[in-house]
Amino acid sequence: MSVRRLAVLGYPVAHSRSPAMQTAALAALGLADEWEYGAIEVAPEEFAARVRALSGEGFAGANVTVPHKQAALALADAPSEVAREIGAANTLVFNGEAIGAHNTDADGFLRSLPESPGGKRTLVLGAGGAARAIVWALGRERATVEVWNRTPERAERLCGGLGGTAVSDPDQAAYDLIVNTTAVGLTGENPFAVLPLTSEGFTVEQTVVDMVYAEGGTALLRAAEGAGATVVDGIEVLVQQGALSLKIWTEQDPPLEAMRAAARGRS
Ligand code: ATR
Repeated sequence: MSVRRLAVLGYPVAHSRSPAMQTAALAALGLADEWEYGAIEVAPEEFAARVRALSGEGFAGANVTVPHKQAALALADAPSEVAREIGAANTLVFNGEAIGAHNTDADGFLRSLPESPGGKRTLVLGAGGAARAIVWALGRERATVEVWNRTPERAERLCGGLGGTAVSDPDQAAYDLIVNTTAVGLTGENPFAVLPLTSEGFTVEQTVVDMVYAEGGTALLRAAEGAGATVVDGIEVLVQQGALSLKIWTEQDPPLEAMRAAARGRS
């Protein structure tokens, strides 16, 4: 039987931890001889044509990352309802000529949380692609969702489409859950200089999620942890969304510990 191929499509994609994580998962499931997972750098203008060619090259599916998630939804023949509502897809499935599209970012995010956000007061920082899946997920769980963004009009537009309330001056201590979806922290800048948070303003009752991940943790999560808050980093969210994608392709229960270890460079 020929090997069934999978890959993450991004631009750039070299930094992605998905190949190491998914390759470790396939090995742990005993599927290393039947499946392989790689990385393909695809420029935006080539995306649609490249994706349509993948099925003929032995690909069974793909993960899609920045900046292609909206384009992935647009070219799918059979997008899931969740992907349609969020307006983005991160998981493609190739069935002959037909392309199916799913979004596992929303459920992956929910699974990374220590408990359900249902009924909780939540603050989402940012209004880009990552924020959309999270606001959708929190709304579905019946959390109260407030969205702050550097460019307020974008927060208002996001809430207009997906629910939630745009806020300009959030009261940091009032939230049960705070999620940073902005790129702040990626380049090492001080998050407290640009986000509406102070490093002393977290509480022990809170859960703080930073979608950005960095070796040794981000300054945001270090401050939250210092205040006794429960913290979740972007790797755990990556693991959970990847696990759901893997289940869609292979119909096997994902080996979460092997995936975590590989995503964290511990295997
Ligand atoms: P993603 O798909 O990762 O969400 P994106 O759609 O480009 O990427 O969105 C990036 C988010 O990070 C936006 O909310 C952006 O704020 P603006 O809408 O005001 O651009 C936010 N962001 C990026 N750099 C930032 C900074 N230095 N300070 C505050 N917010 C920042």
